[in-house]
Amino acid sequence: MTEKERSKLNKTLVLSDREKEALSKKLLHLKSPANVNDVLNKTINQDLMEAIKYLPEGFVDLLFIDPPYNLTKDFNGNAFKQMSISSYTEWLESWFSKLVKVLKPNASIYICGDWQSSTSIHTILEKYFIIKNRITWEREKGRGAKANWKNSSEDIWFATVNDEYTFNIEDVKLKRKVIAPYVDNDGKAKDWNSTDDGNFRLTHPSNIWTDLTVPFWSMPENTDHPTQKPEKLLAKIILASSNAGDFILDPFLGSGTTSVVAKKLGRNYCGIEKDLEYSCLSEKRLEMAEYDKSIQGYEDGVFFERNSGLVRNKVKNIPQMIQPEKLF
Ligand SMILES: C[S@@+](CC[C@H](N)C(=O)[O-])C[C@H]1O[C@@H](n2cnc3c(N)ncnc32)[C@H](O)[C@@H]1O
Repeated sequence: MTEKERSKLNKTLVLSDREKEALSKKLLHLKSPANVNDVLNKTINQDLMEAIKYLPEGFVDLLFIDPPYNLTKDFNGNAFKQMSISSYTEWLESWFSKLVKVLKPNASIYICGDWQSSTSIHTILEKYFIIKNRITWEREKGRGAKANWKNSSEDIWFATVNDEYTFNIEDVKLKRKVIAPYVDNDGKAKDWNSTDDGNFRLTHPSNIWTDLTVPFWSMPENTDHPTQKPEKLLAKIILASSNAGDFILDPFLGSGTTSVVAKKLGRNYCGIEKDLEYSCLSEKRLEMAEYDKSIQGYEDGVFFERNSGLVRNKVKNIPQMIQPEKLF
């Protein structure tokens, strides 16, 4: 991750050895029961199966889970091997059953998967929670298959502990271009606004998300993590299903997207990741979020359609190299 030759236009975030050494000092490793303040706004660099034993009870408002899917995939030298559906279901349950204790009574749970792991997710979720929905998002990346439909979708299952839960619909409206700008009898716009950039309508978001771009080399949020989620995806979930100051837990943190977006949106967070390099990368992104709270595709409290020509995020020129001495 540190030594690849890259073009000058490539904005992928990398770690220097010096940064890794400095940032690794910020990471937690649990060895005894922790309280909420111990894990507040921290990255735990540890295997979830071990860390789970020491997590406090009843402290999480929103649990976002992006586990390895049921595919053979290499995570920085740590391979996850594809298994049968029943074995994957058992694997999910081995840690899911132990995570239930961390949730508050009104908490929400989101868990990611693809068509191959959705069956297992459904089975486990309905055992413990009230399933509310399954979001499908368009993941436009990768090559086409020669003898199959190209896989361009992923799922995110949404569940709650109770029938009472947070859902801020006004905070997740989508700004859409108006194709047919109807007017009423007085010539006034029906449900849309005319702006210098064109005619737009704020619409209720559905469970099909087609406005996301998977991070790639020219996006400042991009890292070398193989399955990094877009910040915009996390922003939708965090804004809809938590309030400022709430606590968000991500037990498979990866490159840190959940913690970073939680920080940008004024929420508390904790992430667990077993790989040291990814954990340090998360800390580096968290440092950068001190200076830059922008989220690509989200501006002035509104989500923009992909390719609407309206994504104007002012991406600040944040130095990529964090001065280790500034970290402590
Ligand atoms: C699908 S990725 C998460 C990607 C993340 N959402 C992001 O935006 O970067 C899953 C992550 O879980 C980590 N992981 C796998 N097994 C783990 C375990 N038992 N405990 C902690 N982390 C684990 C992997 O190293 C990988 O980074």
